Amino acid sequence: MKSFKTIILAAGEGTRMKSKKPKVLHELFHTPMISHVIKAAECCGTESLCIVVGHKAEEVKKAISNDNISFVLQEQQLGTGHAVMQAMDFLEDDKNILILYGDTPLITKESLQELLAFHEKENNSVSIVSAIVENPSGYGHIIRDEKGNFLKNIEHKDASEQQKQIKEINTGIYCFKGSELKKALSKLTNHNTQGEYYLPDTLEIILQSSGRVNALVTTDADAFFGVNSRVQLAEATAIMQNRINQKHMENGVTIIAPQSTWIDANVEIGQDTIIQPNTIIEGNTIIGEDCMVGPNTKLTDMEIGNGVQIQYTSATSSFIGNNAIVGPFAYIRPDCHIGDGVKVGDFVEVKNSTVGNGTKIPHLTYIGDTDAGEKINFGCGSITVNYDGSKKHRTVVEDNVFVGCNTNLVAPVTVKKGSYIAAGSTITKNVPEDVLAVARARQQIIEGWSKKH
Ligand code: UD1
Ligand code: CA
Repeated sequence: MKSFKTIILAAGEGTRMKSKKPKVLHELFHTPMISHVIKAAECCGTESLCIVVGHKAEEVKKAISNDNISFVLQEQQLGTGHAVMQAMDFLEDDKNILILYGDTPLITKESLQELLAFHEKENNSVSIVSAIVENPSGYGHIIRDEKGNFLKNIEHKDASEQQKQIKEINTGIYCFKGSELKKALSKLTNHNTQGEYYLPDTLEIILQSSGRVNALVTTDADAFFGVNSRVQLAEATAIMQNRINQKHMENGVTIIAPQSTWIDANVEIGQDTIIQPNTIIEGNTIIGEDCMVGPNTKLTDMEIGNGVQIQYTSATSSFIGNNAIVGPFAYIRPDCHIGDGVKVGDFVEVKNSTVGNGTKIPHLTYIGDTDAGEKINFGCGSITVNYDGSKKHRTVVEDNVFVGCNTNLVAPVTVKKGSYIAAGSTITKNVPEDVLAVARARQQIIEGWSKKH
């Protein structure tokens, strides 16, 4: 396929969002709308990208800069045609130019490939994507002759009552031959109700100078959905959610309640894993096979092995080994490495720690800045006291240690292999191997005390 360059229009203010933030930076699945568009163009192999910025240009540039992107400024928003004129220096005569909008985050690689292939096959001067919609109000309408040939686009505000009924609309996505776009832009005027330079007017100009103009009617109208308001942002999110969930289900993942399951685009999930309701899986999370995830669980940038059960839990930037059982109500904070078969039970918080295979932390425990070995039992209410008010210190607990209930391990401190810590101890000095450490006041009995009081 001939090489192509991409222009993305993103100068508009997006007033209907009612936001301090530029419209194209509003996020779907933790990624700005415009980044979804950039990704689709990059996946199709665009040679380079030029983004037309205007409203809050600096903020937009800062959020999306990369080496392959150049920016041009449209100081006044005088229309989509005027926006493309700002990118005149980016156009090349013998290259195809793809035009996209920064507010159509559902655009797919497949739909762009279809347009590029159509453009080449038909040898068009310009190809436009149209869609058949139930409510064509607000869009440009596609006018065809009686044989069905493309004649022109008419904007809703300029259309007659009869033209307003036409359900074939302009999605606003085009592929131009560079030379034809340049010529047509130089002839564009703003003689219309809005006094704007309309990019779609170039189609009629190209047709009049005997170029080939054809509209590809899309079969995937969702892909061209434009977001102008927060209501539409939620609609777009729901469409993307549905697409992602469907892909996982087709790959062998059970999702009990797809509508209450939000999975980011880059997440990987193994076969026969079951996702329970109200689960959010974010970032670059990878989940193995045969796991049970949720209900009510949020995982961010996690790596999770096979056969793991994790429920009512929040976990971030950590690793969980095979067959571990986590939750309900566990909180796994960044930089934990939790081994195979570990149990992290209810109301347990783990942070910046390693926990060896087979260790049990069943309930009400804080493990922070700790290196815990294998087959340890942490009793209920164990606490690693890692913070002295100014610095964090590490606790080391070696293999096969038994930590009695309600123990404080005051770091820096090491408990050697096979030792027992008596319940209620506050351990401030290192504990050698295979001993019992008791660090609490002895019990006293005062005879007859209660009768006297
Ligand atoms: C445009 C099309 C319409 C099409 C619709 C599809 C025109 C004149 N009309 O209408 O045929 O059906 O999209 O959604 O093109 N922008 C700039 N600079 C400007 C004006 C717009 O960068 O001066 C950008 C906006 O930020 C936005 C995009 O271009 O990303 C579309 O602009 P918008 O004003 O929303 O066009 P529509 O009226 O929706
Ligand atoms: Ca629009």
